[in-house]
Amino acid sequence: MKNTIMWESPSNIALIKYWGKMGEQLPCNPSLSMSLKASVSRFELTYSPKKGGEKDLVYLFEGKENKAFEEKLSRFIASVSNDLPCLSKYQLKISSSNTFPHSAGIASSASAMSALALCLCSMQEAIDEMEMPRDFFFQKASRIARLGSGSASRSVFGRYAIWGEIEGQTESSNYFAIPFKENIHPVFQELQDTILMIDSSPKKVSSTAGHGLMKNHPYADARFHQARLNMADLLVVLEEGNFDEFARIVENEALSLHALMMSSNPSYTLLKPNTLIAIERIKEFRDKSQMPLCFTLDAGPNIHLLYPKAHEEIIQNFIQQELLEFLEDGKYIQDGMGNGPKR
Ligand code: PMV
Repeated sequence: MKNTIMWESPSNIALIKYWGKMGEQLPCNPSLSMSLKASVSRFELTYSPKKGGEKDLVYLFEGKENKAFEEKLSRFIASVSNDLPCLSKYQLKISSSNTFPHSAGIASSASAMSALALCLCSMQEAIDEMEMPRDFFFQKASRIARLGSGSASRSVFGRYAIWGEIEGQTESSNYFAIPFKENIHPVFQELQDTILMIDSSPKKVSSTAGHGLMKNHPYADARFHQARLNMADLLVVLEEGNFDEFARIVENEALSLHALMMSSNPSYTLLKPNTLIAIERIKEFRDKSQMPLCFTLDAGPNIHLLYPKAHEEIIQNFIQQELLEFLEDGKYIQDGMGNGPKR
């Protein structure tokens, strides 16, 4: 018996950042992200009953062996085998690919771990010959994905997703993400994300090490409090449609993330001079044109420029005319809000 399962899952960009974790990959504050459309990981999982003497996992990335990631996946799979008992009886062949380049400021761990978690949950269903209710299935996949990479818990859902407990919101949880299902204002329905490539060199600090820097960070408590306040404000803004307020919160989150890294011990400066120049240009253009646009950053120098689809043409002209010179080889990636994983 041999069976194959495929899932494609998006990366996401956090608007309220998760930075600092505790216990079993649980967040110190709630986060909220937008799932992307074009930046996805595709996973194909083939399973067959275990035979003695053969490896339990063979992994290929874009057709080639990748031992480091294979080991990471092996550890992850072992860590979730209590939740997915089928894993102890089958050997797995996994191959994956991304639609986006490395080190582009697009979180490949979020898309990869969510795609894999979905494959593993589908495999368990196939073996049990029993479909779970879909809400429960995605909740379980989000919980499993979280153990691989915290932000991956949010990639299991399309559009906007929240991960982490929010006071007064009984559905929110530290263990899995939930879709943000309130009435989203039209201005935030089809948000575009142009990812401006400032520098594609590999990350100076892994996210595991980065989260670790929040332990004993002098500003940790203030940060977790700030994130909760920003979250409460953003939830209102997403329904009411105030773009200026959206920009204030989202940019505050991005710069706070980097301020935390700069003030941690050891400290990291991940922004590049061109990141700062481009940010200034974006602000000047916004003041002059009154266009609804804002930026956010991941834990790196590249900029995510967010704006409603209706203004795409004018903003694309701005990018072409005023930002291109600050980008590495003039490169950027056009993306936007997506509807979540596909089987
Ligand atoms: O999921 P991790 O461990 O790769 O951490 C993600 C951290 C940020 O991308 C900087 C913020 C976030 O909420 O996605």
